[in-house]
Amino acid sequence: MDKIIGSNIERIREIGSTNNYAAQQLLTKSLIEGTIFIADSQVEGRGQVLNKWESEPNKNLTFSILLYPDFLEINKQFELSKAISLGVCDFLKDIMGNTSIKWPNDIYIGKGKVAGILIENSVRINKISSSIVGIGLNVNQQFFTGDAPNPVSLSQITGKVYDLEESLYRLCLKIDARYHQLRSGEFGKIDYDYTDLLYQQGYWSNYSDENGDFEGKILGVDFIGRLMVETRTGKIKKFNYKEIVFK
Ligand code: BTN
Repeated sequence: MDKIIGSNIERIREIGSTNNYAAQQLLTKSLIEGTIFIADSQVEGRGQVLNKWESEPNKNLTFSILLYPDFLEINKQFELSKAISLGVCDFLKDIMGNTSIKWPNDIYIGKGKVAGILIENSVRINKISSSIVGIGLNVNQQFFTGDAPNPVSLSQITGKVYDLEESLYRLCLKIDARYHQLRSGEFGKIDYDYTDLLYQQGYWSNYSDENGDFEGKILGVDFIGRLMVETRTGKIKKFNYKEIVFK
C-alpha cells in the first residue's frame, strides 16, 4: 500500500493560511496527491464559517493536505470529512482516551477542542477533482487568547511536550490508513467508526434549534452528513451545519 499522505512535504516558515497557500500552489503547478503544506507560523488561520484559527508559532501543527478524491461523487463529500476526522482520532487514541468527534468534524478530548478541520473541495463533472484538507492540531500551546470556545492542547492535558515532526509523521500515517479505506470504498466501516466516536452519541442531551431548546439523542449522520437527532416525542430531526446548537 503506497503512502499518499505526506509523500511530499513543503515547509513554510510563516504564512497567512496554509489552505490559501495550497490553493494558490495548485493553480500554478502540478502537485502530487498527498502533498502537505505545513507552516511553522500561521498568522491568519481560517476556521469554519469565517472563524479564526489561533495557533502560536512553533507550538502546534497547522497544515493542509492536497488530495484528488475523484472517486468520490459530490454527494459523498462528507465521507472524506469522516475519514479525516477518524484519522486524527486514531492518532490521538495512541496518546490518550476520551477522544470524540463533535459533529461535523471538531475533534474533542473530553470537553475541549483539540483539533479543527477545514476541507475545501473543487468539483468537476459531479466528482471531487481536488480537495484541500486543512488541519489545526493544538499540541504544545499552553495559553489560548482568542474567542474560540474551549480550546485545549495535548500538552495541557498530559503535561508533556511533544515533538512536532514526529507527531506530524504519526498523524499522517493514521490519516493515510483512513484515506486508503475510503479509496477502497469501505464506507460502512468508516460510518460505523465515525458514529461510534460522535460526541454525545446515544444518550439524551440538551440542544437548541430554530424552534428553541429540546432534549435529543444523537443517532448518527445521514447519507449527506446531516446530523440525525431523536427527540423525546420519537421524531428524528436532521440538521445541516449551524442549524443545531449543543447546549
Ligand atoms: C475549525 O475548527 O473551524 C477548522 C479549523 C481549521 C484550521 C486549519 S490550520 C491549517 C489550515 N489552514 C487554515 O487556514 N485553516 C486550517
